[in-house]
Amino acid sequence: MADGRHDIPSFTEHTSADLVIERMGAAPDARLAEVMASVIRHLHEVVKEVEPTYEEWMAAIRFLTETGQKCDDKRQEFILLSDVLGVSMLVDAINTRRPEGATENTVLGPFHVDGAPDRDMGGTISEDGLGVPLVVGGRVTDCDGNPVAGAVIDTWQASHDGFYDVQQPGTQPEHNLRGVFRTGPDGRFTYKTVKPTFYGIPDDGPVGQLLHGLGRGNVRPAHLHYLVSAPGFETVTTHIFVHDDPHLPTDPVFGVKEGLIREFVFHDDAEKAASLGVENPFWTVETDFVLTPSSG
Ligand code: BEZ
Ligand code: FE
Repeated sequence: MADGRHDIPSFTEHTSADLVIERMGAAPDARLAEVMASVIRHLHEVVKEVEPTYEEWMAAIRFLTETGQKCDDKRQEFILLSDVLGVSMLVDAINTRRPEGATENTVLGPFHVDGAPDRDMGGTISEDGLGVPLVVGGRVTDCDGNPVAGAVIDTWQASHDGFYDVQQPGTQPEHNLRGVFRTGPDGRFTYKTVKPTFYGIPDDGPVGQLLHGLGRGNVRPAHLHYLVSAPGFETVTTHIFVHDDPHLPTDPVFGVKEGLIREFVFHDDAEKAASLGVENPFWTVETDFVLTPSSG
């Protein structure tokens, strides 16, 4: 200004978000500007609602710093944070709006490994033979019930005592309890494994401290993971859950959906076990996957 004064708007509790948002220029990335305007508005609302002390604000900065420091090529603490805050499942819900009857998505989780071995139909994914046998079977279909032949079923799961192979290198064989199957002409698949148990998600980092600080548990109910894909269909990232697991209502990552809970059936029948090629006693579960056409 001519008199040497500047017309600088006051930064107050009431103007803060607007001032930060208005500071953006002609953003080359319109979507970035849109997203950041929303983030800034909501973040300022949180701060105004919470009214943190300096110590609390520094604790939040420390928490985020430690979350980043816990990340490496094997551990992604920020994804774990997103998972336990329900954000991963929310992003998933927004991006997988499917018709009634189609198999629902749930979280991928950190334990999927690319390049798991192709297995023969009916074969086992248990490399160490530890645990109670489980025979899994089902069909992959489209929404009208037509079989999807050649669908790829990539499955992985925790062991009978609750650990993935990648968490126990040297204890479990590589690719234990992982495998890739292809459905036959009738869309059917079947394979052998062992019954998984519930397990704790990593709680030796800041996310674990947060969970415990909030009086929340870190135990996921027993489940089998699946990535089911076929040309012309949307890939489904999902689990099936064991029906009587006591942790179903308190999954720390909110991955449980009613439609993904399956009845696991116990058998004590030596003849049937022999015909299926498993030790007696054993479990069975049936699960179909219903795919939707891919858009575009
Ligand atoms: C899992 O099921 O493997 C998993 C999912 C989310 C966070 C941690 C583990
Ligand atoms: Fe899992």
